[in-house]
Amino acid sequence: MNFRFDLIAEYAPFFFQGTLVTIGLSLGAIAIGTILGLFIGIGKIAQNKFIRLPFSWYVTFFRGTPLFVQMLLVHFGLVPLLIGDTNGIIAAIVALSLNSAAYIAEIFRAGIQSIDKGQMEAARSLGMSHKQAMRYVILPQATKRMIPPLGNEFVILIKESSIAAIIATPELMYWGRAMQGQYYIVWEPYLTVALIYLVLTLSLSKLLSFVERRTTTG
Ligand code: ARG
Repeated sequence: MNFRFDLIAEYAPFFFQGTLVTIGLSLGAIAIGTILGLFIGIGKIAQNKFIRLPFSWYVTFFRGTPLFVQMLLVHFGLVPLLIGDTNGIIAAIVALSLNSAAYIAEIFRAGIQSIDKGQMEAARSLGMSHKQAMRYVILPQATKRMIPPLGNEFVILIKESSIAAIIATPELMYWGRAMQGQYYIVWEPYLTVALIYLVLTLSLSKLLSFVERRTTTG
């Protein structure tokens, strides 16, 4: 077996573009997912049971069904309904964001609930309102605890965005499959794609542990 480096070189520009799309999808999804997830996480800890319910259902649905299925539902169902046409990039960002929001909601909820309840009691006894105590005492401490799992979610999104290949979003995995289809070779496209994903996730983890060290000390 001879390894066709020449074909990898030929596909290099596509892998490069694909990598940019992969990074774009994950960045978009982590940003939108964090905003959505914050709302859902807060909704899930509301005092009123009827307010909590739809948010719990949301999380249950998106964590309990495969992202693969969600991707197809969004691509062929939701996006055409909203914009009247299919669009791989939009569908991928929407599906990844909706999915990630469910996980991020749990990160927020866990972060807030992990703060000892004595902190709230102490803040209230100093005369702060519930809102002030949240804003100045609970959330600053909770945010620190949310950074590591949020970073983790970002790494997961880089890998999970590969599912978008199935709806022809021209991200990294899409080009790997395209190369296999064109030349009937397996190792060259998929080892290259795997290596690029590995470089992306490893560098992101490095960056995150650096950020974590800076935010958790001092
Ligand atoms: N592979 C999982 C699924 O099919 C995706 C989980 C996404 N995880 C996440 N933390 N966003 O459902």
